[in-house]
Parts: sequence; structure tokens; C-alpha cells
Amino acid sequence: MHYEVRPALPADLPAVAALQSHGFGSQPAAVAGELESPDRWLWVAIAQADAADHARPVAYARLRLADISTEPPIGYYLSGVVVDPGHRGQGVGGQLIGARMDFAWSAGAPALYYFANSRNTASIAMHAKFGFREVKRPFRFPGVAFEDGVGVLFRLERPTA
Ligand SMILES: CC(C)(COP(=O)(O)OP(=O)(O)OC[C@H]1O[C@@H](n2cnc3c(N)ncnc32)[C@H](O)[C@@H]1OP(=O)(O)O)[C@@H](O)C(=O)NCCC(=O)NCCS
Repeated sequence: MHYEVRPALPADLPAVAALQSHGFGSQPAAVAGELESPDRWLWVAIAQADAADHARPVAYARLRLADISTEPPIGYYLSGVVVDPGHRGQGVGGQLIGARMDFAWSAGAPALYYFANSRNTASIAMHAKFGFREVKRPFRFPGVAFEDGVGVLFRLERPTA
């Protein structure tokens, strides 16, 4: 199936919230203010081939410019991606990483950060394909709990060419 990735619109937020509570269980982070915030961005993926799914996002991904202190490092963070279970394994997660990388490099970021629970092997494998390399373990990020595992911070350098 082909998927279109685009910035989220207000009408997408209910579907994003549903995906979020499915993907992260009891720990959904708020997305309501995501579209107005100057340091947070949200993308969605829409399934193109299925007319019934026409405008309903089947995945979302967040990006955040974190400037909290020197710990965690200041920079752009891939701050959450969830793909509907029925649409996994078809490259949607990868498309959403690509969209956020393009945005960060266009914004002049020298590097891009991503963190995950150490138990999330699918997410870690997906980001490794794009070149993210582990830089810190255990890693803590304000407001994020890493249940049954530890946080791991990954970094991707901006391409030089
Ligand atoms: C992690 C997640 C976003 C992957 O989305 P996806 O659309 O299925 O991923 P893709 O199809 O783009 O896969 C890209 C690569 O990721 C890796 N990958 C994806 N799912 C995997 C799995 N279950 N096990 C191992 N590797 C996996 C593979 O290397 C894959 O490349 P390949 O297809 O060439 O083998 C999805 O499983 C998800 O929504 N999980 C729940 C929420 C979550 O954990 N989010 C990440 C929080 S940090």
C-alpha cells in the first residue's frame, strides 16, 4: 500500500490521540497543543489505496526541539511514532523518520536525537537503519517513564555531503 506523509491538521487530532493511547497504553502524552507550539511538530501518514481509510491517519510521528538544560542535550528529538498495527511492516514508520529528518536538516540541526525504552527492539532496529547510534544508557527525559526497561539515547549526525 502507498502512504502519504504530511503535517498534521486539527481534524487529525482525534485519530492521533487514539493511535497514541493504543501505542503507549496508559502513558499518552498530550497532542492537543502540538499544532500551535513553536517547538513541537506533528506528522501523519494516510493510506492512499484504501478509499475507506481516505482521510484517517494510520500513523503519527512527533518532533520536538528540547531546550530544557544541558541534560538532556539541547536539540531536535524524534519524540514518538506510532503506526496502526494493521499497517505495520510496510515502511510507514520509516517514511515518518525520513520526513522528520528532512525537516531537521532543513532547519539547520547539526544532529538529531531519539530515545527509546531498551526493550523496544522494533523501534531501535527501525532507527538503526537510518544510522542512529547509541550515545547514552540509562537516559532520562523529563516526563517520560521507561517501564520494565531503561531509557536509551541515540544520535544521528547531520550528513556532510
Ligand atoms: C516501531 C514502529 C513505529 C515501526 O513501524 P513500521 O511502520 O512497522 O516500521 P517499518 O515498516 O517502516 O520498518 C522499518 C524497519 O524497522 C525495523 N522493524 C520494524 N518493525 C520491526 C519488528 N517488529 N521487529 C524488528 N524490526 C522491526 C525493520 O528493520 C524494518 O525494516 P525492514 O522492513 O526492511 O526489515 C511500530 O512497530 C509501532 O508503532 N510500535 C508501537 C509504538 C512504538 O513503540 N513506537 C516507538 C517508540 S520510541
